[in-house]
Amino acid sequence: MKALVYHGPRKVEVEQVDDPRIEDPRDAVVRITTTNICGSDLHMYEGRTTVEDGKVLGHENMGIVEEVGAAVDRVRVGDRVSVPFNIACGSCANCEAGWTSFCLRTNPVEGMDGAAYGYANMGPYRGGQAEYLRVPYADVNLLRLPPGDDHERDFAMLSDIFPTGHHGAILAGVTPGDTVAVFGAGPVGLMAAHSAFLLGAARVFSVDFHPDRLRLAGEIGAIPVDLGAADPVTQLMEATGGLGVDRGIEAVGYQAHDPAGQEHPSLVLDNLVASVRATGGIGVVGVYVPSDPGAATEPAKEGRIGWDFGTCFTKGQQIGTGQCPVKRYNRALRDLIVAGVARPGWIVSHELDLDEAPEGYARFDAREDGWTKVLLHPAA
Ligand SMILES: NC(=O)c1ccc[n+]([C@@H]2O[C@H](COP(=O)([O-])OP(=O)(O)OC[C@H]3O[C@@H](n4cnc5c(N)ncnc54)[C@H](O)[C@@H]3O)[C@@H](O)[C@H]2O)c1
Ligand SMILES: [Zn+2]
Ligand SMILES: [Zn+2]
Repeated sequence: MKALVYHGPRKVEVEQVDDPRIEDPRDAVVRITTTNICGSDLHMYEGRTTVEDGKVLGHENMGIVEEVGAAVDRVRVGDRVSVPFNIACGSCANCEAGWTSFCLRTNPVEGMDGAAYGYANMGPYRGGQAEYLRVPYADVNLLRLPPGDDHERDFAMLSDIFPTGHHGAILAGVTPGDTVAVFGAGPVGLMAAHSAFLLGAARVFSVDFHPDRLRLAGEIGAIPVDLGAADPVTQLMEATGGLGVDRGIEAVGYQAHDPAGQEHPSLVLDNLVASVRATGGIGVVGVYVPSDPGAATEPAKEGRIGWDFGTCFTKGQQIGTGQCPVKRYNRALRDLIVAGVARPGWIVSHELDLDEAPEGYARFDAREDGWTKVLLHPAA
């Protein structure tokens, strides 16, 4: 089959690899109809992880079940499915508690709980930016979708970023009537803003400096905060009468930078601590890593980032972090899409064939104007 393979910083190629096959009776093979490029892929693409040469990338996958192992009895050949980016066993202590993003059994990497498709440190699994994908523990990991091709763009958001944005809002503790600031108006930040409204937020601020992304935030009623125009903390304090926002969501990650492009891994954490009110909540879904080969400082190479924990403590803020347990939310979010209440596909800007993926990576990585979310259609 054809697949997108990583060969070093800013070098990805579509090439022939072996077809996946059933390796365990609990596996399924899915024919991929849609697979997205994610901001998380860009950390690898830019050489800012320890991902190995030859990895097939792609963790935002959906498609049609092509084949199932003998022990799979819930999912059937021909089912249209969304594949959560987490690979979970479904029966370890963390999975049972709903933390499928920290499955104790699926990642053989020493000291790492939680596995994923096509990702650095997340186990030996190939990604789905390919014609087919092997899915372990298929009955646990596959979410069935209505047949046909309705809502393909919306459902494509269910494997990662819609649940991840939602998780950010849950970690921040968003409840009806809250005022929420979302840092980052990339795909994850836009999903967090959408979810904050679904959870009843009264006002949502979307902080970024890319006009096209701020415009998309405005389309769902979020208030754009252009950090290129003035300090975002000052803007948020003014907009809340000096009180600060109730909840803040980090949807940027360790490559946070100023509008000139200078990286400051502590910048967004500091901005959140400063702009969230005392006893408010902060949800961090932007990724931070324990090892960053390209970090600007020696401590940051080992994940040590100096941020204002003193003020965070003094303000009694609640903070939650980590990879999203997609399975905890994807069924409910699917049903909100079917009911017409949620429409996360509004951020999709480009739909490409798999062969065009290298160009899609380059342009999404450059945050070219209008390149907000790229979908690939390997089966096209
Ligand atoms: N926790 C999870 O499960 C999970 C899942 C998916 C993605 N992620 C992570 O979420 C983050 C965002 O993903 P994405 O796909 O939206 O990526 P993205 O890179 O497209 O978007 C990030 C946005 O942050 C903006 N930004 C940069 N510096 C900023 C600053 N100082 N203040 C405000 N905004 C700033 C950028 O302009 C960009 O629009 C990434 O770190 C990604 O790895 C986490
Ligand atoms: Zn993703
Ligand atoms: Zn498990």
